[in-house]
Amino acid sequence: MALTGKVVLVSGASRGIGLAIARRLAASGAQVALVARSAEALQEEAAKLRGAIAIAADLRDAASCAAAVEETVARLGRLDIFVHSAGATQRGDFLALGDEAWEDGYALKLFGAVRLLRAAWPHLVASRAMRC
Ligand SMILES: NC(=O)c1ccc[n+]([C@@H]2O[C@H](COP(=O)([O-])OP(=O)(O)OC[C@H]3O[C@@H](n4cnc5c(N)ncnc54)[C@H](OP(=O)(O)O)[C@@H]3O)[C@@H](O)[C@H]2O)c1
Repeated sequence: MALTGKVVLVSGASRGIGLAIARRLAASGAQVALVARSAEALQEEAAKLRGAIAIAADLRDAASCAAAVEETVARLGRLDIFVHSAGATQRGDFLALGDEAWEDGYALKLFGAVRLLRAAWPHLVASRAMRC
């Protein structure tokens, strides 16, 4: 894949699968916005990837999702690809896990994805239009 000139937002990019995806995309030429909560880890990883930026955000929060997309576009000029890898699943006995644990998981994995994509959508559409 040649991704030179493309901008990608990767959530959950401070470690694990998200970080591996961010590294691979950067190696293919993309500029990557690494998003997660751990500011220090993000800065450290972004410094290793050419053109990458770090955005610390708790993606369970609606306003933070929109802000992460806005900051990506403000600093990198566009947004072409969105990857949602942020996740944190509380594990435990089914009968012991309360609603809060379930709500927390959905706030990040489901609503985080929906809110980020909603904010990213106009930029992704604009990117497609430019390609055509
Ligand atoms: N690993 C597997 O075998 C596997 C298999 C199937 C599905 N999955 C799913 O794939 C996703 C990634 O898995 P992984 O193994 O890469 O997990 P991981 O190593 O625990 O990484 C999770 C990432 O999500 C970020 N994150 C967690 N809570 C967040 C929040 N509130 N706001 C923003 N970012 C947050 C973490 O960064 P911070 O802590 O810095 O915020 C981290 O960057 C998860 O949804 C997981 O359930 C994983």
